[in-house]
Amino acid sequence: MITPKAKPKIILDTDPGGDDSFALLWLLSLVKQGFTELVAVTTVDGNVHARYTFAGASKLLKLAGFPSIEVGKGVIGGSESDLEDAGGIHGADGMGNLSHTLPEIDVSYEDAAYSDDILIEKLQANPGEVVVIAIAPLTNLASAEKKCPGILKNAKEIIIMGGAFKVPGNIRPEAEFNIAYDVEAAATVFASRDDIVVIPLDVTKQLIFTNEMAKQVSQINPESGISKFIVSLCEFMTKTALAFRETQGKQGFLVHDAATLAYLFYPETLLFRRADVMIETKGEWTRGKTLFDRRNKTKFGANAWVAMEVDSVNLLAVMIEDLKVLISLDLDPRLLEEVGDLGSSLL
Ligand code: BDR
Ligand code: CA
Repeated sequence: MITPKAKPKIILDTDPGGDDSFALLWLLSLVKQGFTELVAVTTVDGNVHARYTFAGASKLLKLAGFPSIEVGKGVIGGSESDLEDAGGIHGADGMGNLSHTLPEIDVSYEDAAYSDDILIEKLQANPGEVVVIAIAPLTNLASAEKKCPGILKNAKEIIIMGGAFKVPGNIRPEAEFNIAYDVEAAATVFASRDDIVVIPLDVTKQLIFTNEMAKQVSQINPESGISKFIVSLCEFMTKTALAFRETQGKQGFLVHDAATLAYLFYPETLLFRRADVMIETKGEWTRGKTLFDRRNKTKFGANAWVAMEVDSVNLLAVMIEDLKVLISLDLDPRLLEEVGDLGSSLL
């Protein structure tokens, strides 16, 4: 007899962020369709200051109808001091300067729990059950591990968007933003277990979400708040992506963070290799570089699975369809009552 698999419980560790926002909306669609449970969102300092990433995630949850999911505030004080945030790419608020168009939130940054404490609490309460998806600098995860050694082993899986192996970096010639922003934290997390799932720039550089795709999504109901946000955010991100020469001149932007969800829900779109990932924490020019030994030499042990190939056409196609479902549910609130069996009937 085949036993049905349990729905994964997820904590999303994020620094919204244009691509973080798309990842969160995609995840909320999967939650609404009954495929997963979102236990908490732990925000962190990264693309913009922790205060803005907290506000951005809270606003998006409210926009999509999940105002009561707990949001943690980011631990301040990562290891890197000379890197600027990525407000130039994502907007000063991290949300394409669109946060004033999103609902006001009822939660306060001052009163919120710290993200590392939420991680510790949830992982202690649900050993082996929670998947941690980390799409931002790893400051919160490392802080949780330092406060409570071994706690990251309590996660069912840890999936990280970060690193650049055979391709150039984005924040430095050889380093990717999420790793380089807090290299000591990254080293701590990669040392915490031997099965970290890594989605690096090698695959995410191929994921160009275009303005055309945003329009395709929004056509389901152009008047929905989610549709309007997706179209406007895509337009904003496209401009900065072109200015930073990230998309080979294509009218779109890279949805790096969203690829973590493909690993869990559409694994046929990614191919992985086993590796012992190392983080360069000291190099003068290469601080934040991620690497593994590619020589044909005997190796002893590995700590990660690294995605090296992606079926970008199908990954983007399934993402578009799930975003459409989210918007179609926004269109008809009566459907929300049927959350239990939405999956098949709406697709
Ligand atoms: C990563 O850096 C951030 O700017 C993005 O949100 C993504 O998590 C890509 O390098
Ligand atoms: Ca991010």
